[in-house]
Amino acid sequence: MGMPCLRRGIVITASAPGKIILLGEHAVVYGRPAIAVPVTHVQATVTLEPGGRGVMIQARDTGRTLDYAQADPLDPLAAIVRVTLAHFGLAAPDLSIAIRSTIPIASGLGSGAAVSVAIVRALAKFAGQADLSPDIVSNLAYEVEQLYHGTPSGIDNTVIAFNRPVYFVRGKPLQTFSVKRPFTVVIGDTGIASPTKIAVAEVRTGWAADRARYEAWFDQIGRLAQQARAAIECGEIDQLGPWLDQNQSLLQNIGVSSVELDRLIGAAKAAGAAGAKLVGGGRGGNMIALVDETNREAVAAALQNAGATRVIITEIK
Ligand code: MEV
Repeated sequence: MGMPCLRRGIVITASAPGKIILLGEHAVVYGRPAIAVPVTHVQATVTLEPGGRGVMIQARDTGRTLDYAQADPLDPLAAIVRVTLAHFGLAAPDLSIAIRSTIPIASGLGSGAAVSVAIVRALAKFAGQADLSPDIVSNLAYEVEQLYHGTPSGIDNTVIAFNRPVYFVRGKPLQTFSVKRPFTVVIGDTGIASPTKIAVAEVRTGWAADRARYEAWFDQIGRLAQQARAAIECGEIDQLGPWLDQNQSLLQNIGVSSVELDRLIGAAKAAGAAGAKLVGGGRGGNMIALVDETNREAVAAALQNAGATRVIITEIK
């Protein structure tokens, strides 16, 4: 494809939400189902501005600037630009790419996948293909997820690219699902960055040393995700709380919780949450608590008092 013609001063923007895994993280890497939903309270936003020389990538929140021509090919930002330009058959244009994100990095909310999806969408607009299908957006982001995650299941790029609740089984066609009765979760951040890649690699070491035990835990987690999907589709939200707690116990067995996560989870439960668990890779990052209108403010305050660095109340619908 020839180089798209964009006048100087014309700016393109695109964004992508964060995500939470309601049930099923880690087990999903081993083929069990997981359910995840987008979180639009946090967003990665990308702005493209034609001009300059070559592709310059600025990660505004971290203050990092990357010259694409000189970048390490394994750098995830350079990699997502490379795979996307290759998809459109474009040579590197003269372009400034600025990234801003309110999604905390390495915290279980999908920051890496959201930045990738926002870059793909912005470059798709630049290439005159703003209607690029979520499937292709997701596949391009997945190519780069391996740099962030090592052996990613693909759930993060999928839920973020489709921007819908997903029931995800690795390697199987995507199933989205509907939420019959909206419900509310409070998300609490430990403030501790914990790269998913490390947590996933440590789980793999544990699994390799004791496969039977880990496989049994993964089976139990997968069953919880499966029954939770059915309950959400039927509007039986009251069932979910104990299942979140059981999922958290299994994540503790697997070794991915932490003192800080356990403290926030304990505080949320003591303040009346129906269930609570870590989200994403664990060892730090965020947790969620299932609440209702009678206790949501109390749970949010309890999380703040217990040291959460950010608390988000979000409706799942
Ligand atoms: C990361 O958001 C979820 C994990 O299950 C890893 C993955 O699915 O790739 C921990």
